[in-house]
Amino acid sequence: MLTDKRPYLVMGLLSRQSIAFAIGEAIRAHGGRVVYSVQSPVLKQRYLDKDFGPDAAQTLDLRYCDASREAEVRALFQELGPVAGVVHSLAYANPRTCLGPEFHTDAQEDILRSYEVSCVSLALVARYAASAMPAGGAVTALSFDAARAYAGYNWMGVHKAALEALVRALARRHGRDGIRVNAVSAGPLQTAAAGKIPGFDRLIAHWQAYSPLPWDPVADKAAVADAVVFLCSDMARRVTGHILAVDGGASIAGTALEPHERLSGPR
Ligand SMILES: NC(=O)c1ccc[n+]([C@@H]2O[C@H](COP(=O)([O-])OP(=O)(O)OC[C@H]3O[C@@H](n4cnc5c(N)ncnc54)[C@H](O)[C@@H]3O)[C@@H](O)[C@H]2O)c1
Repeated sequence: MLTDKRPYLVMGLLSRQSIAFAIGEAIRAHGGRVVYSVQSPVLKQRYLDKDFGPDAAQTLDLRYCDASREAEVRALFQELGPVAGVVHSLAYANPRTCLGPEFHTDAQEDILRSYEVSCVSLALVARYAASAMPAGGAVTALSFDAARAYAGYNWMGVHKAALEALVRALARRHGRDGIRVNAVSAGPLQTAAAGKIPGFDRLIAHWQAYSPLPWDPVADKAAVADAVVFLCSDMARRVTGHILAVDGGASIAGTALEPHERLSGPR
């Protein structure tokens, strides 16, 4: 399915649990070559070395990049040369000020930092990705249901709504370059970032109550990753500016599923 010889850059690898890792595995499984970017050597040492040993950099083909710093994004794309596609699988919010029981906060700097990393960095990445894909390609981001407000998700919900608007604006801007820009809106998945969202377990419980298809917060990373592969591939050649929900359908359900609507036998 992914026949391009150029690598796919997957940004936002932290650990084996990361959605980025599932995406890299799916790209490989579909025939593509993967280069990962990790935010910093310190995080690599703290997380990846534990999961993969100190040779992680060779095994996984790792680079470093703080996606909110223009110089680092520019240097990464210069080092890589041509790429077939880019996946932006990263976000940040200080859990003490931007997430949790109280929405109102005077931590303006944290809010702006969270916006810069979780939303604006996609524009920075797309700008440099465009010059690394002169013959066209795909940029795919990760979102979370931005049409509803969830307890505790606070500013990250606001930034995801902005990210989705940015996906549409970038799709419009980069159509002329043959570059498609899309996002996958995933249901809740167990990762390091998710573990910092207060009340994440309630989010999973909500999903399990509302989702017409069964939702598994660990196993379904692979379903999310497959959808990213689809959006990166030529199969999605006329899809751009789209937010593809891979959430078991929870976001279309107005009320929780009734017992008779649930799966009765094995899947
Ligand atoms: N886990 C979920 O339930 C879920 C659901 C929907 C969408 N998402 C989105 O998926 C994406 C990946 O998150 P994850 O759940 O795999 O968590 P994760 O903690 O494994 O990954 C988050 C990544 O963001 C990176 N990051 C933070 N600030 C950065 C910066 N300045 N520069 C570069 N990288 C930076 C971290 O280093 C980490 O690698 C995020 O956009 C997240 O919002 C997650």
